[in-house]
Amino acid sequence: MDTHRTATRALATEAVHAGRDDLARQGLHAPPIDLSTTYPSYDSRAEAARIDAFAATGAELDGPPVYGRLGNPTVARFETALARLEGTEASVAFASGMAALSAVLLARASTGLRHVVAVRPLYGCSDHLLTAGLLGSEVTWTDPAGIADALRADTGLVMVESPANPTLAEVDLRAVAHACGSVPLLVDNTFATPVLQRPVEQGARIVLHSATKYLGGHGDVMAGVVACDEEFAGLLRQVRFATGGVLHPLAGYLLLRGLSTLPVRVRAASATAAELARRLAADPRVARVHYPRIGGAMVSFETHGDPHAVIAGVRLITPAVSLGSVDTLIQHPASISHRIVDADDRRGAGVSDRLLRMSVGLEDVDDLWADLDRALTEAGVPAQAVPSAR
Ligand SMILES: Cc1ncc(COP(=O)(O)O)c(C=O)c1O
Repeated sequence: MDTHRTATRALATEAVHAGRDDLARQGLHAPPIDLSTTYPSYDSRAEAARIDAFAATGAELDGPPVYGRLGNPTVARFETALARLEGTEASVAFASGMAALSAVLLARASTGLRHVVAVRPLYGCSDHLLTAGLLGSEVTWTDPAGIADALRADTGLVMVESPANPTLAEVDLRAVAHACGSVPLLVDNTFATPVLQRPVEQGARIVLHSATKYLGGHGDVMAGVVACDEEFAGLLRQVRFATGGVLHPLAGYLLLRGLSTLPVRVRAASATAAELARRLAADPRVARVHYPRIGGAMVSFETHGDPHAVIAGVRLITPAVSLGSVDTLIQHPASISHRIVDADDRRGAGVSDRLLRMSVGLEDVDDLWADLDRALTEAGVPAQAVPSAR
């Protein structure tokens, strides 16, 4: 898992050290939080030249910052670290995962390529943003095998999630990247994290995270990030500068801190999730369990009983949307995370009305199982009432 190596160091080492390489030289241990919105400069001719350079390429400014919307040193540390973990030249952070996706769509549309090919399921709001064409894009939904045929002259992006929210369906990223030809493939890697999967190694050009989830890891930061090559990162920085979806420096600090424990958290929660998936699959009250081949800390399942009663019945597990925190959360996608998707489209993508999605945290597996077991019983399907053969 975390034996992946970047160019020089193992993932577990990068997770702790990337974005912090200069600290010891400065006599620091924890990274400083720079809350400045603006920065003094007595040489406005030099500033004019630096702003011209940014307008030309979107490259990070040389020298001290100018204004918070152009870049922030604390956020830049997180961007450096995440790029190292994903194995990309750069990454660009945003105020949320949806702000990150919006910036990608705007950046592609700015080159005249407004058509997007996408594979369902995606996170409900990503699906909604594309389906409603809120940013002027046009989407063609297809399955992975249909991608090559769906491409048009004005296709600017192919988008997939793997494992997908909420069914945990997996896409063969290498095959999909091949089908995309010269059109950039965006992989939403929120569920896998770079600990389990590095999409760029399989041919993706753009990797998106809701950093609100595992990267932050503690349920207290809202953020998004796009890992990509430097050329596209420049365009994204220009979009971010012009549209303003910047990440707050405190959030940048918390994300950098979150990254340092990412491999340990993902590994521990995944082991618990795999065991819960095994127990659920063997339980006659459960109709179906979804657990990805690559592992991870997400488990989805359908019960024979009322899914709303399971949600109402948990006590240790928190009934809440979102995922990737240290504590376990459960939610009903058809009611919350994917409610905004048209019901037929949602069901067509495998998101049944019985599906529950659980984000497994770092609690003891037997305590989690005891809570689930009681909630399943309260949901009204006694274990002996259902034939064991399924
Ligand atoms: C897979 C995935 N991508 C993107 C998003 C959007 O991220 P955010 O809520 O940080 O805007 C989410 C949110 O749940 C998600 O699950």
